[in-house]
Amino acid sequence: MQQVKDRVFSGTQPTGVPTLGNYVGAYRNWLKMQDDYDCLFCVVDMHSLTVRNDAAELRKNAKSLLALYLAVGFDPEKCILYFQSHVPEHAQLSWILNCYTYMGELSRMTQFKDKSAKHSENINAGLFTYPVLMAADILLFNVQYVPVGEDQKQHVEITRDIAERFNNIYGDVFTIPKPLISNVGARIMSLSVPENKMSKSDDASGYISMLDTTDVIISKFKKAVTDSEKEVRYDPKAKPGVSNLLTIYSVMTDKSVKDAEKDFEGVGYGGFKLAVGEAVADKLKPIQDEYNRIMDDKVYLESVSKDGAQKARKIAMKTYGKVARKVGLAQI
Ligand code: TYM
Repeated sequence: MQQVKDRVFSGTQPTGVPTLGNYVGAYRNWLKMQDDYDCLFCVVDMHSLTVRNDAAELRKNAKSLLALYLAVGFDPEKCILYFQSHVPEHAQLSWILNCYTYMGELSRMTQFKDKSAKHSENINAGLFTYPVLMAADILLFNVQYVPVGEDQKQHVEITRDIAERFNNIYGDVFTIPKPLISNVGARIMSLSVPENKMSKSDDASGYISMLDTTDVIISKFKKAVTDSEKEVRYDPKAKPGVSNLLTIYSVMTDKSVKDAEKDFEGVGYGGFKLAVGEAVADKLKPIQDEYNRIMDDKVYLESVSKDGAQKARKIAMKTYGKVARKVGLAQI
């Protein structure tokens, strides 16, 4: 069948429960795309193997992430939702692309440098070649766009470099994808150390899990680090904590940052933090209710996963077949 709409791919690692950063930097934007693009949203469980996990927990997190995708509003009638490990062409293409990627370019990846500092006891080859698997994820589906938070921009850029290198040798095999990064909320910061990105590997007070209860959310926002001034003003350099909270509030309430600032003229930091916490809790509550409902429906989850993998595989096999022929893998 002819591809009519532009195509989009993105994914999340199932290491722990997604954070408010994932929601704001990624899911919120994916949601806006599912009507106008052919979207694939993947649970990239193979990427999670680059750090040590308990097997049962990883499996549980992967299932929970699929349920959360559905709860956020991704509609399996409109987009393809699936587990990376169910489509073997991800790993197959990744191997081939490894042979077209240089050690030098991989060693310049910021995430590799950060993660190898954090996991100095386990700097495995998978951590190093992680961006190549990510390139395979994207290039398998010949997508035009990859909506991500700012931290993944470099990985989409290396994907473009690998694709261009491959195309220069073999002709137009891969579509060159573009990263899509929103102007507001592309980098949500930690609540406890607002100079750092919000991440599930933070200490718990620094991040909001998408499944935190209303009480926990409000109490974490009440303790959020701000500054010694009194004015709620957007200035990420001078006031990183307040600016981060304003960004979150603006996204949660669909207001511009300017209008968000106006809401808090003359309001002290206590009232401001409480309002941000409430806005977040209000947004997450219906998602959490839906998540709990879907998690109980094993049959539905299985059918979404099976159907998604089948659809993804159909596209992936085509691209992989073409690549295997181009590079000269045996055909008989
Ligand atoms: P991951 O699982 O770390 O995050 C999923 C998405 O959430 C975004 N994000 C954030 N955005 C704003 N502020 C934050 N604090 C924040 N934290 C996370 C990420 O930018 C991402 O868009 N390598 C990827 C997963 C991946 C992928 C892919 C993405 C694998 N293959 C192919 C796109 C295309 C990752 O670890 O994302």
